[in-house]
Amino acid sequence: MEKWAAWLLKKIGFGGSIVCAALLIAGFAASGQTADQAWLRGPNRLILFGKVVALGSSPIEQSAVQELSRSVTHHASVKGGVFSTAEGREKSLTVVGTAEEIRKAYPEVPVPGDLKPEEYWIWSKSIQEPSLNFVVGGEERGTLYGAFALRRLPATVELGNLKIDNPLRGRPAMAIRWVDQWDNPDGSITRGYGGRSIFFEGGNVREDLAQVSEYARLLASVGINGCNINNVNAAPELLDAEHLKQIARVADAMRPWGVRLALSVALASPQKLGGLKTADPLDPAVKAWWVAKADEIYKLIPDFAGFTVKADSEGEVGPSSYGRSPADAANLLAGALAPHGGVVLYRAFVYNNHLDWRDKKADRARAAYDIFHPLDGKFLPNVIVQTKEGPIDFQTREPVSPLFAGLRETSQAMELQVTQEYLGQQKHLVYIAPMWKQVLDFDLRAEVGSTPVKEIVEGKSFKRPLGGMVGVACLGREWLGSSMAMANLYAFGRLAWNPELTPEQIADEWIRQTIGTDPVVVSTVDKMLMQSWPTYEHYTGFLGSQTLTDITGSHYGPNIEASERNGWGQWHFDDNEGIGMDRTVATGTGYVGQYPPAVARIYESLDSTPDNLLLFFHHVPYTYKLHSGETVIQYVYDSHYKGAAEAAELGKEWETLKGRVDPALYDDVRARLEYQAGHAIVWRDAIVQYFLKQSGIPDAKGRAGHYPGRLEAEDARLTGYSVIDVTPWEDASGGKAVTCANAKGCAAEWTWNGAAGRFDVAVEYFDLQGGAAKFALSVNGNAVAAWTADGTFPSRRPHGDNSIRYTVREVELKRGDVVRVEGTPDGSDAAALDYVEVTPTLTAEHASQ
Ligand code: GCU
Repeated sequence: MEKWAAWLLKKIGFGGSIVCAALLIAGFAASGQTADQAWLRGPNRLILFGKVVALGSSPIEQSAVQELSRSVTHHASVKGGVFSTAEGREKSLTVVGTAEEIRKAYPEVPVPGDLKPEEYWIWSKSIQEPSLNFVVGGEERGTLYGAFALRRLPATVELGNLKIDNPLRGRPAMAIRWVDQWDNPDGSITRGYGGRSIFFEGGNVREDLAQVSEYARLLASVGINGCNINNVNAAPELLDAEHLKQIARVADAMRPWGVRLALSVALASPQKLGGLKTADPLDPAVKAWWVAKADEIYKLIPDFAGFTVKADSEGEVGPSSYGRSPADAANLLAGALAPHGGVVLYRAFVYNNHLDWRDKKADRARAAYDIFHPLDGKFLPNVIVQTKEGPIDFQTREPVSPLFAGLRETSQAMELQVTQEYLGQQKHLVYIAPMWKQVLDFDLRAEVGSTPVKEIVEGKSFKRPLGGMVGVACLGREWLGSSMAMANLYAFGRLAWNPELTPEQIADEWIRQTIGTDPVVVSTVDKMLMQSWPTYEHYTGFLGSQTLTDITGSHYGPNIEASERNGWGQWHFDDNEGIGMDRTVATGTGYVGQYPPAVARIYESLDSTPDNLLLFFHHVPYTYKLHSGETVIQYVYDSHYKGAAEAAELGKEWETLKGRVDPALYDDVRARLEYQAGHAIVWRDAIVQYFLKQSGIPDAKGRAGHYPGRLEAEDARLTGYSVIDVTPWEDASGGKAVTCANAKGCAAEWTWNGAAGRFDVAVEYFDLQGGAAKFALSVNGNAVAAWTADGTFPSRRPHGDNSIRYTVREVELKRGDVVRVEGTPDGSDAAALDYVEVTPTLTAEHASQ
């Protein structure tokens, strides 16, 4: 049991001044979000009695008081409360202060001598009323983390299991706990799915930064202490004098929450902004420019956290242009920041995106290690190499980057992505904490013994002074754009604070604070969250094959060949015989040899490579048998049918919560899950029909290529609609769809030839950008449903990114009935249609069979 839990029990069990109570929660709002609309809404909030005061006057301590004061009450009638006197309640006091302040004012309080600056220690002087409680921080930020830990208590402990024990104490496992925003000065957010930037608009910092403060509050509540506010593909102008002044306002808004501001910088800035002839890291004028720039920044932002650098990557200028190394570039910036206490997060995401795909030795996965390993020990102490968790790019599944074990004399941070770029872009429910946890726990077995990634980034394994985790968050004005996706931001912060927490525990905490404490709600949502990543993997990314999305575009829907035959190096090399990339030392690219020997041995051999990474490391025939005994091709079929069924199941599980959760949240999540279930079918069918054709091997279970009840648009009686080939072909059923160029509308009609009965009728259409087409479904001229295609999906062309399923349940049909879909285009949305699918409605009787 954690020490703090006992303290709470003491307070509750012995008439102290803190209780937990279930409070009503406010409704979910779609935009202009505040922290109280995320997990700080607190359905299960801590209530303190009496006053809360700070000994110091710093804004951070004031925030701690403010946070605790939100929990203060003078109401006597708290259900389940055990308080004796009104006077006790009035006179109780909670004192917030740093260790130094508390020791001075209350010498009798046994503040531990070894409190670290960000650590908190919470103690109660007396179990009598009125009580005197202390929230002590090693330094100011610790007081704030203590306040939030107190607030979170009711969501984190099972009260029944507590024993009287010790004070509550907590400290972060790692120093760097940052989020990166990929915001652009124009207000857009690269890979952001929650609206426009809270920081920028129209080239400048926004006037109203209220939401920035709310964001900082949210970040602080899970212990995040840094926020880089601009895209890693950095706009140089943000470093000019005028923008820096504006950015100082952002830092002011975040400072009371202990969140330090950082900036991404372009290495070309001295040239682009300063008018110098070069940006060569070893040029004295360049060095002087950065020194002056750092001085200018610190005058405006005294607690500026540092720079993040993307260089020699995806078109960004880097040291290689001048024959210099990443260490030269990193040290240039680190030298300028060092006198002020700033750090450089130099990204290891450096690779050539013009690789030759015909060269079987070329391998993007090798790049980070090949470039950075030889530089180990050459970086200044305030440089941290920031490495993505896998060697490619936030894929559904990748092995852990070998670079974590390849740098022993360099501080390291692990970069992971909170925004779901390759994981369904917040339109699909994917709780990523289980993946992150696997990465953190993965033992790289470096020669020094057991070296799990978490201990490397904590700085423990190789005794590094700095280290940590950076989450690419990309929150916008609607936060992540999905209430459920916020569990990922919460989990990121909690894991960076304490990587020993389990994903289930974190989900549990988040659900209790955000959705409700009803045990049925907690266990159902917990189960849904835990199942969501495996489900997504089942229908989008089999056996470590890497993303099958359009890698040069949206990174969203299926587009299997987009990764092949180009320089980006996300190849999976499928042909008629087999699939996968040989990265072994013996016959492949040699990437496996970058791992410490004990790990390399596992991946080098087909026998010991886990099935879920098979195609990342090996090229095998479709008939290759997995450890499970299934062939690769049968696994492709089975996993996709399974994944689509699981996605549908997520929706059914949520539906059991009707009436138990906030109605607005219920409706929102239900609609999203319905969409996801439909899109999982798009994914399933694309992958399955593609590999059926590619391999020529039928599905042993007879599903692939057979779609009973499916009425193709291209086979319908068409009025106005024209048949088109969809690209890529696998994104439409049979490779074809119909589009309408007639502003008055078009129609597709089929005659139902099946038996009479009650059916679910699904209309598969494409919701294209640039307009809101209208659709209507009728049977024998009687209207059944009508809807507008007004969602936000990538692209104006029909394909898997925007293929949507609209299902009408329980439609009566008999042989000879005419099923008709009418589509009316709008703007560039051509009311495109793929098919209609008619399946018998599952009755309660069927369902129980
Ligand atoms: C991904 C992402 C880019 C981003 C890049 C990075 O490739 O799609 O938008 O710039 O990662 O991490 O730098």
